[in-house]
Amino acid sequence: MRFTIAIDGPAAAGKGTISKAVAAHFGFAHLDTGLLYRAVGAKTLDGTDPIDAAGSLRAEDLEGFHLRTPEVAQAASKVAVIAEVRAALVDFQRAFARRAGGAVLDGRDIGTVICPSAEAKLFVTASAEVRAERRYLELADKGMDVSRAQVLADVKERDARDMDRAEAPLKPAEDAVVIDTSTMTIEEAVEMAVSAIKAARG
Ligand code: DC
Repeated sequence: MRFTIAIDGPAAAGKGTISKAVAAHFGFAHLDTGLLYRAVGAKTLDGTDPIDAAGSLRAEDLEGFHLRTPEVAQAASKVAVIAEVRAALVDFQRAFARRAGGAVLDGRDIGTVICPSAEAKLFVTASAEVRAERRYLELADKGMDVSRAQVLADVKERDARDMDRAEAPLKPAEDAVVIDTSTMTIEEAVEMAVSAIKAARG
């Protein structure tokens, strides 16, 4: 059985949580494609050329707490504008999407560019203020020294870069179901996502 669920949306909208819950619900494998860009971004912070980094990624590069820092998130968003970096990551993502047993991929361009024929597409979003507050609480919980104002500024900067880029900009696919999680609990958002996918499965 092959079934691809594409989940796109801006930073901290709840994509990751929803994707994990949806993958668990349907028993599908999950790929957080942001990690690929974060791994490339992290390597550029060490001085590696981004195109070389994207061409030589290994599974172990996708692990580690350091990939979750705001610095790496910004570096990821910067390398993500480079067409050659994106191109180097396409085959891996498409192969994952068509693996036997079903797959959930979350990112920015899954429903539009990586898997335009995905059987189910969701676009998970929330206001910038709500997303920044969630990200702030997450980072503070991990003991990181950040301010609310800085996190909001970072979220807005990353949104602008992800949406305005020429290559695979962040936008909902025409046939995506949009879920705005601004005033939803996690449970409500997951329930809505599962129902939308069940409807697509027929
Ligand atoms: O989902 P995330 O916050 O981990 O993503 C980090 C950055 O990677 C994001 O700001 C833009 C980029 N990205 C992308 O361009 N395309 C994807 N499919 C996933 C992430």
